[in-house]
Amino acid sequence: MKAKDSELMEKIVSLCKRRGFIYQGSEIYGGLSGTWDYGPLGTALKNNVRNLWWKKFVTDREDMYGVDAAILMNQNVWKATGHVGGFSDPLVTCDKCKKRFRADKVEGYDLKAEKGKCPDCGKGDLGKPVQFNMMFKTHAGAVEDDSSISYLRPETAQGMFVNYKNIIDSFHPKLPFGMGQIGKAFRNEIAPRDFTFRSREFEQMEIEYLVNPKDWAPTFEHFRKEMLDWTKQIGLNPVNVYENEIADADRAFYSKRTIDFEFDFPFGRSELYGLAYRTDYDLKKHSEFSGVELSYLDEETKEKFVPHCIEPSFGLDRTILAILSSAYTEDNMNEEVRAYLKFAPVVAPVKVAVFPLLKNKPALVEKAREIYQALRKEFGAVMFDDNGNVGKRYRRQDEIGTPYCVTVDFDTIEKDNTVTVRDRDTGKQERVEAAKLSDYLKSKLN
Ligand code: GAP
Repeated sequence: MKAKDSELMEKIVSLCKRRGFIYQGSEIYGGLSGTWDYGPLGTALKNNVRNLWWKKFVTDREDMYGVDAAILMNQNVWKATGHVGGFSDPLVTCDKCKKRFRADKVEGYDLKAEKGKCPDCGKGDLGKPVQFNMMFKTHAGAVEDDSSISYLRPETAQGMFVNYKNIIDSFHPKLPFGMGQIGKAFRNEIAPRDFTFRSREFEQMEIEYLVNPKDWAPTFEHFRKEMLDWTKQIGLNPVNVYENEIADADRAFYSKRTIDFEFDFPFGRSELYGLAYRTDYDLKKHSEFSGVELSYLDEETKEKFVPHCIEPSFGLDRTILAILSSAYTEDNMNEEVRAYLKFAPVVAPVKVAVFPLLKNKPALVEKAREIYQALRKEFGAVMFDDNGNVGKRYRRQDEIGTPYCVTVDFDTIEKDNTVTVRDRDTGKQERVEAAKLSDYLKSKLN
């Protein structure tokens, strides 16, 4: 990764807004802290990542079942898991300016002595923390009383555990098998920060993989490798990805082993994903609170037990931020500083752009449009661009990370039916026969 600094972060945030990747949520009303809206290119990038993940971890495997559970869940789900009582962060308030902070994220705050100085006004004292529950509470239905309380789910995981019995009854899978889900999660973070890194509304891609407890260790190792493999697949440089084995004292109480996958974000090394051995904690708790038996009967051994769970958990928005951070590159091209996104082709929101050299020459436009339509059928995400001169178009496509630009010029229509194909990373151009263009791009993009 290039410089780890706030300047790089600012450049990424500004490019994301300028080019239609990510905007502040509710921007025209002054924004809503911790929320982000994805524009057309951000949406395309996110869809590519979501689809790749679903393919790798769900459809390409015989042992996975996809789920799309409701965001609003019965409040007893969160009582069972301990979220109602314990899903909280330590909140401290400045006695002078009254600003609120997450105690464990304030530089210089002494968690043992429970005191520190306000990082904002610098004058006030931050006293004892109070526990602040991060779940968004609402009421389902017209009556607002205790019985109608519901929560926006703070993780997608529980939507899978509560469907364990449904999956068993509908599909009769044998252990080991897993459930996978992609969807929104909500946390009322005390201090949303670092662009989309810590948001109040975000998306998770999670797996709850169920095993016989004797098999947990090799399964954990399998997913550790799969998660690292995934980071390579989406184009993250392995030197920027770290595994952090969480010590016994620092793990969630239900986890017997946790690895945090960390990444060199522009603001420093921080958690990207987590892999946890959750034991039988969740299914046991749901069984206890719902009164429904959630065990598994091994038909061969006649052994009956509550399956244990290995949970690979991925934040989709953090994935996008990691991809953007690692793709952002500056170099010198034609004696000018050029900023571009060096996306891996699999995630690039636009795979190819097609230009007519001049937009006021109908024969060039017609030919370019013909090539554009043919490539769209093959690659889907193809853009037609005739705005400004060709140099400007290259810059624009570089900035949105388009791997290849195809230009139709006079040689195409008057001489040899060849086009120029320009490579985003090197800026080098090659002449390619129009009839062989699709195969040429296919080999390059794959
Ligand atoms: N089911 C386990 C679970 O939710 P987590 O570590 O709290 O574990 C998993 O969250 C992943 O979700 C994180 O590694 C991160 O990628 C993402 N994530 C968590 N909180 C987030 C937030 N406030 N904003 C964006 N992504 C977040």
